[in-house]
Amino acid sequence: MPDFKLEAAKTALQFIKPGQTIGVGAGSTIANLLELIAADKQLAASLTFATSSFKTAGLILQYDFRLLGSEQVKHIDIYFDGCDQFDAKLNALKCGGGIHTSEKIMASLANEFVLIGDASKSVEKLDTTYPLVLEVLPTGLQLVYQWLAKNIPTAKVTMRLSTQKDGAVITENGNYLLDVYFAETITIEKMNAVKMVPGVVEHSLFIGLAKKAVIAGEGGVKVLSP
Ligand code: 5RP
Repeated sequence: MPDFKLEAAKTALQFIKPGQTIGVGAGSTIANLLELIAADKQLAASLTFATSSFKTAGLILQYDFRLLGSEQVKHIDIYFDGCDQFDAKLNALKCGGGIHTSEKIMASLANEFVLIGDASKSVEKLDTTYPLVLEVLPTGLQLVYQWLAKNIPTAKVTMRLSTQKDGAVITENGNYLLDVYFAETITIEKMNAVKMVPGVVEHSLFIGLAKKAVIAGEGGVKVLSP
């Protein structure tokens, strides 16, 4: 079976022009894209990179690409990132990593945000397979729990726990992560409403940000627009 994520990365590579500032998120498809860029030494030397991910920053440094500190990023030509699921309008849900706040900042700083991955990510409507992740200020925790219990009572809410040590995952910004599992499919608007609760720094649904999605599957590589 072909490596679909690699096939998607090969098509994404064609969108990159020499001299651009390229933003990259996290995941195995992004790792494929970086490897392809590294193979084109002339292109790689002309690019500047920005990333929302500590792990991806390590890869960029390993390839000896030019990397901007996240505080220095003023503009990104193209931001590439994976996701867990996206719908027909390219609204994307991300639940891994817990770095969605910086991912969303980079996607918003970019001229173009391109989702990449295999065809399994593409759905007509977001379903309940993946949780919506909330980055929450410690002081807002109880308020957010109360809001969720009142407004989406059927949802199951769990605090993200560390797999390496006892206790909660603490984000790079010093906050908690809550995974909100919906019992039934709810609207994008209802999911987005949680953004207004004081203490919610950001949620992991990317609404209307992606301009393209490059997906590869049995039917070949497709470039989708909203
Ligand atoms: C991190 C993400 C990743 O981009 C997502 O998990 C996709 O990863 P992969 O390319 O390995 O399928 O959302 O927050």
